[in-house]
Amino acid sequence: MKVDVVLGLQWGDEGKGKIVDYLAPNYAIVARFQGGPNAGHTLKFDGKKFVLHTIPSGIFRPDLINLIGSGVVIDPTTLAKELAALRQAQVDYQDRLLVARKANLILPTHRYIDKASEAAKGKEKIGSTLRGIGPTYMDKTGRNALRVGDIMQSDFQARYDKLKQKHLDLLKMYPPVDFDLATAEAQWLEGVETLRSLTLVDGEYYINKALAEGKKILAEGAQGSMLDIDFGTYPFVTSSNTITAGACTGLGIAPNKIGEVIGITKAYCTRVGAGPFPSELFDETGEFLRKEGQEFGATTGRPRRCGWIDLPQLRYTCMLNGVTQIVVTKMDVLDKFDSIGAATRYIHAGKETADLPYDVCTHDIEAKTIMIRGWNESLEQVSTYEELPEAAKDYLQNIEEYLDTPVTMVSTGPERRKLIVRNN
Ligand code: GDP
Ligand code: IMO
Ligand code: MG
Repeated sequence: MKVDVVLGLQWGDEGKGKIVDYLAPNYAIVARFQGGPNAGHTLKFDGKKFVLHTIPSGIFRPDLINLIGSGVVIDPTTLAKELAALRQAQVDYQDRLLVARKANLILPTHRYIDKASEAAKGKEKIGSTLRGIGPTYMDKTGRNALRVGDIMQSDFQARYDKLKQKHLDLLKMYPPVDFDLATAEAQWLEGVETLRSLTLVDGEYYINKALAEGKKILAEGAQGSMLDIDFGTYPFVTSSNTITAGACTGLGIAPNKIGEVIGITKAYCTRVGAGPFPSELFDETGEFLRKEGQEFGATTGRPRRCGWIDLPQLRYTCMLNGVTQIVVTKMDVLDKFDSIGAATRYIHAGKETADLPYDVCTHDIEAKTIMIRGWNESLEQVSTYEELPEAAKDYLQNIEEYLDTPVTMVSTGPERRKLIVRNN
């Protein structure tokens, strides 16, 4: 058996939560492989809405196991809140939610450092979600981190106190920012208690044993490939590998165990936070997309920047991920357009190119856009690919041809059932 991967091909918020929730019943295990509570994955079904930050998006489907993998950074405070929301919705997670012992812990002081460091950057700030992601991954690679397995060790409190002190010393470097550490710490220690009540596993053994037993596994990514620490629009990125390779390192599976790679793109493009966005629209069309698509962050509520789909950018991320299938979400948001733009090339430093240049963050980059006929009708009643208006089919075909990859699913609304699955 192989591990199928679902991940975002843009700058995040492509609709990963919805697609994982939809696909989950086909699998025995859904496993999150990286990122942390910077993610906000929205699920809508039966008139209810949930936003998950750390917990895999398979949790609402009965019978299957959800694993928070070792590549994830966990804030016990956020996790405890998510669990409380599940209990309120009467979702029984106790025997179905597993946490990898090697996952790293976000401490309150990691959030404190994130805030101080972003404030100190002034105009150059990344636009971080301030969830402590960067400082936690820094401690991981710096070999200072506390991991989930450590909460069961007798010296946990002493190690926590030591790392906290190190952070407080570090914070002296930064201009002061408001942070109520005492309250945050009390909540965090309560969260650690909650974490102790969950089932902790050696995730890498768990997954590989399940594979050997013939179980089907779906790996859920967070953020998007353009936020990848190595290949994204650095430094305006997150601090983990969001691409397919991150599923290997984040779960402890070998590259030859990867099966389908399901890459998600919106029918247009958004970004939240700072950094380059070649096809961004600054006019009323961008504003219209934000309104129609309700483009406000699921984690921070910030308005998302909007623009046309960027095909060279998607070709780049298809290449990085080995995408075998594309899912196009939010098609319905384009229902009211006579014509729809698509970036096909860039102008950068006076030259035309279809590759993303190295210095995309320091030199202006402009997208060359073609206009494609819109369908200008509601997709509300469409439930099969064949029923899509011709112009919508042409739009999708254009994407397939440019990316040389099939579009296998098209999402036409936030609800679980609003999904067109293409035959074959
Ligand atoms: P994720 O982080 O990739 O899981 O995506 P988010 O949940 O942050 O953002 C996607 C947003 O779009 C959520 O509010 C979803 O409910 C919504 N959404 C997902 N698919 C569709 C769709 O096909 N059409 C519309 N209109 N909204 C969608
Ligand atoms: P999901 O999984 C969209 C962005 C932030 C910021 C940059 C760094 O919901 O798609 P960080 O908090 O990681 O230090 O922020 O990355 N970012 C996201 N944007 N969706 C996300 O997750 C994101 N997670 C981080 O806005 O620009
Ligand atoms: Mg999101």
